Amino acid sequence: MAEFDFDRSDLQQVVALINGKGGVGKTTITTNSGGLLAADGWRVLAVDLDPQGNVGLDLGYADTEQDDDGKELSKALVYGDAPRPLKNVRPGLDVLPGGHHLEGAAATLASKIGKGGRAAAEGKMALAIALSHISADYDIILIDCPPNIDVLQTVAVAAARYVLIPTKTDAASKKGLILTANRLDQVLDLNPELDLLGIVLFGTSQSAKRVRKEYVDEVNEVLGVTNADGIVFQSFISHSEATAKQTRNKGLLAHEVDDAVRTAPKWYESLKRGEKIASPGPVSAQSVADSLQAVTQELVARFTERAQAAEGEQETADV
Ligand SMILES: Nc1ncnc2c1ncn2[C@@H]1O[C@H](COP(=O)(O)OP(=O)(O)OP(=O)(O)O)[C@@H](O)[C@H]1O
Ligand SMILES: [Mg+2]
Repeated sequence: MAEFDFDRSDLQQVVALINGKGGVGKTTITTNSGGLLAADGWRVLAVDLDPQGNVGLDLGYADTEQDDDGKELSKALVYGDAPRPLKNVRPGLDVLPGGHHLEGAAATLASKIGKGGRAAAEGKMALAIALSHISADYDIILIDCPPNIDVLQTVAVAAARYVLIPTKTDAASKKGLILTANRLDQVLDLNPELDLLGIVLFGTSQSAKRVRKEYVDEVNEVLGVTNADGIVFQSFISHSEATAKQTRNKGLLAHEVDDAVRTAPKWYESLKRGEKIASPGPVSAQSVADSLQAVTQELVARFTERAQAAEGEQETADV
């Protein structure tokens, strides 16, 4: 394979959230897990590779002067220089915003890849090269992929050490899973160490255990594997339209809305004081926030376990 001006060992902490199907929780996990990890002391970078720029809605910078609609990230993808992230969107959480500029970058990369040969390999590596300049600043880098732009998905999985696949459990999502598995296969020659961190079920209800069991059986069948029980996360994201609406409208993460609900004066206290009763958010924010916390913990456990195993292998190789 052609040599590139970057070292893959600089990208060991890169996780791509990918699914060719839309609306399955890619952005929600990127922003909420990113925010929770940053609050826990991790140095986190969230990369919004989506021209929709939804990371900015969840984190509250969309349409503010901080929002460059993906310009900085697009420039880095096309020219290979070091991108400058938005710093401390939350303490410890930096972001490379997405937005409409990424459509132009995607077209440029697609034409490079269409040429074949070295240009193609360089096009596929565009994000890997860009991130390698700044990855040393971060403990984890989460890439939020668009659902519908092949070339941007390709550059994400070419840059990543791990992939996390959020999904719903309906029939269309199963088809999405097969397409996503094919996408991963396509970059294995450029990125042979790419590893599946797991599949996270999105928007599931209380009967999640049964739903999970059925889904595990189906994944085994669809992908022709036997180990789906270990692949599918035990934790899942609880369903609540009310919380989802509130968080995205306010530019707050689920745990931030939950904190506001918990610390707000009770309605009867406001009433006693003759104050206007203001709703800080839906009560369901707690179950969504708790579920995202559980998913994040499982993500960290899987990430850390693999990182330690890789370190162990490296040490053995060095002896
Ligand atoms: N816990 C939840 N329950 C119900 N809906 C939710 C929940 N969390 C987020 N949502 C909503 O579900 C929709 C899809 O979520 P999200 O944007 O995270 O998915 P996505 O995979 O990134 O979508 P896209 O492919 O469009 O980028 C959004 O409208 C979001 O506000
Ligand atoms: Mg999204």
